[in-house]
Amino acid sequence: MNNPLMEVDKLRLDAGSQTILEVDRLALSEGQVMGVMGPNGAGKTSLLLVLASLIPPTSGTVRYRGEDLARMDLVRWRRRTAMVFQEPLLLDTTVRENVATGLKIRRVPPAEQKTRVSEWMDRLKIEHLARRSVRNLSGGEAQRVSLARALVLEPEILFLDEPFSALDRDTREKMLEELSAILRATRTTTVFVTHRQSEASFLADTIIHIEQGRIVGSQPNGSSGC
Ligand SMILES: Nc1ncnc2c1ncn2[C@@H]1O[C@H](COP(=O)(O)OP(=O)(O)O)[C@@H](O)[C@H]1O
Ligand SMILES: [Mg+2]
Repeated sequence: MNNPLMEVDKLRLDAGSQTILEVDRLALSEGQVMGVMGPNGAGKTSLLLVLASLIPPTSGTVRYRGEDLARMDLVRWRRRTAMVFQEPLLLDTTVRENVATGLKIRRVPPAEQKTRVSEWMDRLKIEHLARRSVRNLSGGEAQRVSLARALVLEPEILFLDEPFSALDRDTREKMLEELSAILRATRTTTVFVTHRQSEASFLADTIIHIEQGRIVGSQPNGSSGC
């Protein structure tokens, strides 16, 4: 078997006297789209935050290409990742500025910024909104901006926490289809949290089920349409 891109080993996350996560082993390979399913409160968001190194585990290790995240430079690590949450976290400015911000922070040369921002606004179908303030966007449009902000960074790993859960069904299905096509085309390694089986089946090539902080099932997704 290929070396996994990310590997979790004997992970435990406690909050006070409560154990939120207890994961003996989990591996993610390059290019894989992993769906993380489970009921409310199961620990899906907590797992994502630990994988992204936004919260440190109580014990155990998370490795990226064999390197322990706890020993890695966190800024360097975070620059390889991007994250999209259920509620779009946007800056109070225009759509274009929002998509460009991460590239500015990373000091990508202005000409390249311009090309990449235009490309990703086009791919997420928000080019016509470029000069609009994010204040007057619909929920679906705002989430398109969030996805463009994340994807423009060409992350090595993309973390998605229920990105479509707040959207109406038609919008959700459309965006799911578009995102699926993008992830297949770019081969972006992705961890996709959802509580909907239909979304996981559509997008993921492996699905893990979490209950009460433990992985209770893991299977390759045979019904993926891609
Ligand atoms: N900062 C925290 N402090 C204490 N308990 C927390 C904290 N964050 C989450 N929890 C608890 O951890 C469990 C898992 O939460 P979460 O990861 O948000 O689940 P999910 O995303 O699957 O709904 C829940 O019981 C929640 O109440
Ligand atoms: Mg959650």
